[in-house]
Amino acid sequence: MLHLLAEHLPGSDVARRYAWLYEQNPHGRSVTVIARDERSGEPLGLTSVFPRRMLIAGRVRLGSVGGDGYVRPSARRRGIATAMHCATLERMRDDGIEIMYGPPEPHNLRALERAGARVVCHVRRFSRPRVLQSLLGPLGRLVARGARLAPIEGRDARVDQVFERAVDDTVVTPVRDAVHYAWRFVDSPARAQRAFVVLRHDKPLGLCVLERAGRRAALVDLFAHPNDFGDALSIIASSSGADSLVTQLNDRGPHAKHLGRAGFFAREGKPFQVHAREGTDPAVFDGRRWYHTWGDGDLDRVL
Ligand SMILES: CC(C)(COP(=O)(O)OP(=O)(O)OC[C@H]1O[C@@H](n2cnc3c(N)ncnc32)[C@H](O)[C@@H]1OP(=O)(O)O)[C@@H](O)C(=O)NCCC(=O)NCCS
Repeated sequence: MLHLLAEHLPGSDVARRYAWLYEQNPHGRSVTVIARDERSGEPLGLTSVFPRRMLIAGRVRLGSVGGDGYVRPSARRRGIATAMHCATLERMRDDGIEIMYGPPEPHNLRALERAGARVVCHVRRFSRPRVLQSLLGPLGRLVARGARLAPIEGRDARVDQVFERAVDDTVVTPVRDAVHYAWRFVDSPARAQRAFVVLRHDKPLGLCVLERAGRRAALVDLFAHPNDFGDALSIIASSSGADSLVTQLNDRGPHAKHLGRAGFFAREGKPFQVHAREGTDPAVFDGRRWYHTWGDGDLDRVL
């Protein structure tokens, strides 16, 4: 597996990634399928899903993030990725995982669709350019009076508090909880994405995760009650200290409208697919319900 992963992700510390993402995930160990040549036994490719508790229309279920799909160049276009996605769905059943989701690369999307996955919406990159970041800065600072970002350094009960207050029975989203947040953002190999509680007058208003690269910043995750989302966004934008901000959200989903109001422009989009077992709640195929951020994916660095 490490050999195939090293081919797929050259230059990255795959042993560290394996320990973190495949073994230490608090929502469950990965389900990995490896394809082998029938005669020689040579490994030809692999794909994985990483378990994640989900809130699906008011019920907590076990879902998963798809990732690290790779077929060796000499073995491509023979239906191997398609067959691995079919096999993964079978294995997910044994582990009680109902769905797999994510915005795959185009060739992998075709393989997933052949295996039965459905595109339910598009995740789009939104950016707030430098000129708007400086123009809206004073307004943001007004909203941000008495507000600050408090770093999350480990398991932090305020994560559960904010999540439970922010969700309702309509949304489909991966669960944010104290244990997951600590693993995903405090213990990640790159440690590039830093998690914060957004506080106003010392009360938790929301959660956010920021990744910086020079004067740019990515808003990797943001979670807040619908009534507080716009304010949380302004507070984060003005407290980030960045010249420009970029984020990624479902363009038809909850909260996307706040981004336009806060000076974020829609950029390129990517199809977002759901691969689900039979009998799964049909809410997972309703693109308007999905709230999915970069932080819900498997990349510990996006810039
Ligand atoms: C994406 C990847 C896993 C696909 O593996 P694969 O075994 O070749 O996929 P399949 O043979 O099952 O392809 C299924 C369908 O996807 C489409 N497809 C796959 N690769 C394609 C390519 N290079 N060009 C055009 N279409 C392609 C085709 O429609 C194909 O069916 P067809 O060959 O009958 O036309 C492989 O190309 C790969 O490892 N790429 C590099 C890593 C990567 O991008 N991983 C995905 C990250 S999300």
